[in-house]
Amino acid sequence: MRFDPKLVRGDVPLLNRVINGRPITYLDSGASSLTPRPVIEAMDRYYQHHHANVHRGVYQTANEATAIYEGAREATARFLNAPGGSPEIVFTKNATESFNLLARSWGATFLGPGDVVLVSEMEHHANIVPWFQLRETHGVEVRFIPVGDDFRLDLSRVEEAMAGVKLVSVTAMSNVLGTINPVRALADLAHAHGALIAIDGAQSVAHLRTDLVDLDVDFLAFSAHKMLGPTGLGVFWAREELLRAMPPFLGGGGMIKDVSTDGFTPATGPSKFEAGTPPIAQAAGFAAALRYLDGLGMDNVAAHEHDLTVDALTRLATTFDGRVRVIGPDNGVERGGVISLDVEGVHPHDVAQVLDQFGVCVRPGHHCAKPLMKRFGLAATARASFGPYSLTSDTDVLLEALTHAVEMFA
Ligand code: ALA
Repeated sequence: MRFDPKLVRGDVPLLNRVINGRPITYLDSGASSLTPRPVIEAMDRYYQHHHANVHRGVYQTANEATAIYEGAREATARFLNAPGGSPEIVFTKNATESFNLLARSWGATFLGPGDVVLVSEMEHHANIVPWFQLRETHGVEVRFIPVGDDFRLDLSRVEEAMAGVKLVSVTAMSNVLGTINPVRALADLAHAHGALIAIDGAQSVAHLRTDLVDLDVDFLAFSAHKMLGPTGLGVFWAREELLRAMPPFLGGGGMIKDVSTDGFTPATGPSKFEAGTPPIAQAAGFAAALRYLDGLGMDNVAAHEHDLTVDALTRLATTFDGRVRVIGPDNGVERGGVISLDVEGVHPHDVAQVLDQFGVCVRPGHHCAKPLMKRFGLAATARASFGPYSLTSDTDVLLEALTHAVEMFA
């Protein structure tokens, strides 16, 4: 059964803010989602009652902290239906670090000159730059799947781009276009060509149900702060046999089995990739965020945001006489609640500043996706994005503020 988004809204203290005399209209969940009270309380509880370092102490609170941290790993595995369970979940700093781990560890070990990493033109820089860095150090080729004028990947072009590909690395949902890519079809295609597939789930995991058994991918990266959780915690998931074959990326305490003056042997399991004190309070908050999302039901979250998106797209198409263009699919088919706008004759930063006068938060800029911006001949867009606490009344205020921006710069 659908949840009541007004109740979700009531759980988010930040939505009580008044900005420039108007109640805040938060439409920047694509950049970072807002934090519901149970998530804040879980972190508060951790600091007030259980704080200690993990995997080190033998005293009561140290054991509690370890149980909280490892409990979050188990909750993450369940949330994703990870086939190998919690040993496949590595906690990182963010999705970007997860991609760097993939490139520096798996990529640097298994790829070399002549090998191709196939990304797409709609990738975030986090899924481009680490591969360019690997090109510099290891001579791999980085190839791009083009994005069509319909803002979607052309699967027939993927087939012809597969020669020499060892890894396909694509986003499940574009942070600029909102396009949802056919992950399972891409996984089947990659595997049919003997390649592995990595998915950028930074946008998708927060908004769609993710079932790793169904998706049949090999690697997944995403961040907690885009899914009602805290900043400072990312997830890297890989099939257990792949993780086992990967060398550590960062060295230090916590990631070793043994160290002597001769060298070291790495720990086994995900600890191998978690050097130093990990984000323990964030893990406590993330587990609460996963419980919260489970309570809403990810299919319900997707359905709610789909309705908001279709409503916003319909109203945007009929309100501005073509002066406001949506950079992304203009209907609700296979697209999420990320709506990038190009307002004729008005720079996106100016649009965002006018919107701010109405208390409306949108993100202007290139959204860390410069190749995609270039593909569509744009320097930037003003991007609105929804979360489970968003309401159609947010779209009302967006349209009111956009009308003002259009008139002001007419
Ligand atoms: N990657 C985040 C965004 O798209 C920050 O805004």
